[in-house]
Amino acid sequence: VGHIDDVQELRKTKPSCIPQRFVRNRAERPRFSMINPPSCKNIPVIDLSKLQKGNKDEFQAELLQLSTSCQDWGFFQVINHGVEISLLESIEKVAMDFFMLPLEEKQKYPMKPGTVQGYGQAFVFSEDQKLDWCNMMALGLEPKSIRNLKLWPTKPANFSETVEAYSREIRKLCKNLLKHIAIGLSLNENAFEDMFGAAVQAVRMNYYPACPRPDLVLGLSPHSDGSALTVLQQGKGSSAGLQIFKDNKWISVQPIPNALVINIGDTIEVLTNGKYKSVEHRAVTHKEKDRLSIVTFYAPSYDIEVGPMPELVNRNNPCKYRRYNHGEYSKHYVTNKLQGKKALDFAKVKNT
Ligand code: SIN
Ligand code: FE2
Repeated sequence: VGHIDDVQELRKTKPSCIPQRFVRNRAERPRFSMINPPSCKNIPVIDLSKLQKGNKDEFQAELLQLSTSCQDWGFFQVINHGVEISLLESIEKVAMDFFMLPLEEKQKYPMKPGTVQGYGQAFVFSEDQKLDWCNMMALGLEPKSIRNLKLWPTKPANFSETVEAYSREIRKLCKNLLKHIAIGLSLNENAFEDMFGAAVQAVRMNYYPACPRPDLVLGLSPHSDGSALTVLQQGKGSSAGLQIFKDNKWISVQPIPNALVINIGDTIEVLTNGKYKSVEHRAVTHKEKDRLSIVTFYAPSYDIEVGPMPELVNRNNPCKYRRYNHGEYSKHYVTNKLQGKKALDFAKVKNT
């Protein structure tokens, strides 16, 4: 992605220009009049404190709400999640400080095609592919062997330590959620954690500048996540922008201050043999407001074999996915453009 394709730079130099590469074909444009039909609800909210400190009834009710959210929505917001608000604020601050640096400084950490580490745009493989109205800064975090320290910004000065402190807490949250997801599925509470090995964790910061024509572009192309679980923080004061595809409609996620948005990724869809859904989502832009999101991906170690768990395969729910190596899936995911739920075709059992 060259100079002219950097949306922040474009906003500075040609504020009213939208190059053709960003203009979506008619069918792909976000039709704002069709979003959030009056009957539709906001995504469910889970109060994690009720799962940790609630009495028996509160625990059971919240556990049921968690299971239903994973099954019917693939998305929920979590409140009382245990991550310090000050940490949410500091990660947001360093992310913003980074994106506000001059382009030359950010380009010291270029994201190479087929990888999702560094600054730029991921999932771009051809000249005729449309570009998202977004800049990204992404880093592999865990296990330490996936870190590419050359791509860790040295400005702002507290970037790395803040990312590390934040990621440690988000990792605990992921483990905690997976434990309760396992309990809700009547599995051993450590079922996912035991299987995941040295779980992979990565972070991606997305910065969506305001766009003069939000009706023509997308902030982020529709996709489902390749992760097991994704934790998404929306910047304070940002516009709403995340939308999920449910019942053939796009629904906008209304941010709750200090809540985190959680979604089920492809890996949990496969492990649960489709019981829990990895739901397609996208980001749209806003005419006046910029938007920041900070996204953590949590997944099994690359050497792990993934396939439907035997407990979730039976006569009524025959095996829908084959077994595969998670590292291979990851590679497949990052070397293709974002295209709805297409990445998951990789794992589908062919119709017999
Ligand atoms: C994502 O799906 O990775 C980010 C969506 C968002 O910015 O809300
Ligand atoms: Fe996503």
